[in-house]
Amino acid sequence: MNKIIEISRISVLGEGVGVDSDGNIYFVPRALPGDKVKVLVRSQDKKYFECDLVEVITPSLERVEPPCAYFQQCGGCDWLHWNYADQLKGKQKVIEHAMERGTLTPQKILPIIGAEQSLNYRNRIQLRMGSGSLGFFKKKSHDLVDIEECKIAKPMLNEAIKKLRASGISKQEQTQKIELYIAESGEVKQVTNAAHGIEGFKQINEEQNSRLQKCVADYVGRSQSKKVLELFCGDGNLTFAYQNLVKNIIAIDSNESVISQAKWKREKLGLSSEKSSTAFICDVVGHSTARKLPSEFKGHYDTLIVDPPRSGLSGALTHLLHKQLKSIIYISCSVQSFSQDVQCLKDQFHFEELQPIDMFPHTRHIEFVAKFSRI
Ligand SMILES: C[S@@+](CC[C@H](N)C(=O)[O-])C[C@H]1O[C@@H](n2cnc3c(N)ncnc32)[C@H](O)[C@@H]1O
Repeated sequence: MNKIIEISRISVLGEGVGVDSDGNIYFVPRALPGDKVKVLVRSQDKKYFECDLVEVITPSLERVEPPCAYFQQCGGCDWLHWNYADQLKGKQKVIEHAMERGTLTPQKILPIIGAEQSLNYRNRIQLRMGSGSLGFFKKKSHDLVDIEECKIAKPMLNEAIKKLRASGISKQEQTQKIELYIAESGEVKQVTNAAHGIEGFKQINEEQNSRLQKCVADYVGRSQSKKVLELFCGDGNLTFAYQNLVKNIIAIDSNESVISQAKWKREKLGLSSEKSSTAFICDVVGHSTARKLPSEFKGHYDTLIVDPPRSGLSGALTHLLHKQLKSIIYISCSVQSFSQDVQCLKDQFHFEELQPIDMFPHTRHIEFVAKFSRI
């Protein structure tokens, strides 16, 4: 079935959303607010219609010429055809809309912190090579889009792509996974066919990451925290940004590699493991995390910081609450899992502030820092 729809906003998954006169809601990938589009309805669930974009009848004034030749096929970016300032407004609205519908609403939602450099920001990319092509997968497909450069990757990585192409592209049918990243030494490194996540999580946008670190440190300072429990700490990316503001930290992550990197960074900063008040522990966060803490920490940490993966805390938050806990700082990349997780806070905590930060320009991905304090 074809329909003509006017797009009014963006969904939490980054699709254009339009509502018809009967109140039916249409989700259209790659359509933008202000577009009038012809769509093909793919599936329907009650009043919700999943659609394919057939034709843009009247383009939104927010549309721009994509700066990338591969944008129409490549599955990497969502929004190179959307003016960056309008993308930021779109992300802000997605967050505001989701928070209005939640059980806990923040007292203040600050304006999103946009990137000064919305292109050439990624310090890590994952390419595929095979059948004579080097590039990224098409959207929802394992077909390769052959690329010469990636507009959101740092120039050094694009130089590395050129060198890889010059050295010859595999004609083998089986695709290889090639990860290119800029190491701390400043050199480009290549890893081929590594198992997923073997080296652990790394922030990919340094400029925006420093703003994220600053925001978390600011919230820790404002909370007058002394004992902090940080969960999903990775390599200590956030820990080292606030550790000089507090007395004790226990920081936990389930990935051994990132915990070793965190310990190594701690040594490099001259904080030997005996003298340092920052302990990094490798463990899986879950319902028993609070119970497993050392007795001087159990029931005594005054600030809880969590930065979980997209799936959120899966019910663990309620087991981490105790009377001495004064503030919670939650860094989230999913409004859905965040909204579910924080429901358990509604009688004891006040949702003070939410700061969105655009970590991934030209993509639908959203990130924000939320600060809660005890009522
Ligand atoms: C979004 S990353 C945040 C990392 C770090 N805070 C940073 O800023 O780089 C999420 C982290 O959670 C860790 N993780 C995922 N599931 C976990 C679990 N069940 N228990 C503990 N850590 C987990 C991952 O290893 C990853 O380092």
